[in-house]
Amino acid sequence: MELSTGLDYIPLDTQNRKAVMSTATDKGRTTSAEQMSTAYGFEQVGEGEKQNKVNDVFHSVAKRYDVMNDIMSVGAHRLWKDAMINKAAPSKRPGWRSLDVAGGTGDIAFRLVEASGRTAHVTVLDINGSMLQVGRQRAAADGLEDHVDFVEANAESLPFANNSFDAYTVAFGIRNVPRMDHALEEAYRVLKPGGQLLCLEFSEVDVPLLDKFYDLWSFNAIPPIGRAVTGDAESYQYLVESIRKFPNQEGFAKYMRNAGFERVNYRNMSGGIVALHTGWKL
Ligand SMILES: C[S@@+](CC[C@H](N)C(=O)[O-])C[C@H]1O[C@@H](n2cnc3c(N)ncnc32)[C@H](O)[C@@H]1O
Repeated sequence: MELSTGLDYIPLDTQNRKAVMSTATDKGRTTSAEQMSTAYGFEQVGEGEKQNKVNDVFHSVAKRYDVMNDIMSVGAHRLWKDAMINKAAPSKRPGWRSLDVAGGTGDIAFRLVEASGRTAHVTVLDINGSMLQVGRQRAAADGLEDHVDFVEANAESLPFANNSFDAYTVAFGIRNVPRMDHALEEAYRVLKPGGQLLCLEFSEVDVPLLDKFYDLWSFNAIPPIGRAVTGDAESYQYLVESIRKFPNQEGFAKYMRNAGFERVNYRNMSGGIVALHTGWKL
């Protein structure tokens, strides 16, 4: 049975959403790949519709995406990303290659390259040209063009040969990919044997009171801040809702095992607000 937090909030009255009294958790997390592929936040959309809506979100917020990450997480996303980079432990030997899927504006890629002493090569793959454009500008500003390349493509169908990469990272991206199960199968295919998948994603808070505070912050503060900073509250309403529809720690671990990954593990951060999932292609 789904437990309610008792925190009422009113979703935005948008074209597709009527303002209804609800609770932050009463919609429930998705329990199958089919449900994930048609869950656009709390809204159920038609087969094939979710990707277009997600693309609109990131086209809309791309230019202010990085500054919003700092505000929404009060800077914590930097620590979560650092933990992922430490776990990835990029090799300092030349030739180490990594793929950062749903890489957006390049944050993970740049950190991996710096952690390798600028020897690693990272491919940033994203379906959204606006996000990649910001990433290209950042790479140029930091002199990282020789270490990072940008590919506009879908995580569900990767344009790379089997066994190409030493590591595959995806940070706050997998829950936006409609057919997440296909994306994980593709991750397995393009990793070299011995390669590691690392996935950073919002998850289920397991600390009493923190869960209530987190719901209050997510539903009452983030969309209005999104409106003030990007002029777009609806996109941030989607982002906080999508977090609640994403499978919890154990649920996502099952998706990884189903895709073939072994030694699947996760580590909670900030009380489970975020989990770092890892698995190996052995
Ligand atoms: C929340 S952003 C994460 C960006 C970056 N990884 C970070 O941590 O800052 C989610 C990204 O997922 C991308 N995305 C959504 N659906 C995708 C798909 N099917 N294939 C590849 N990227 C996708 C979006 O375009 C967006 O850039």
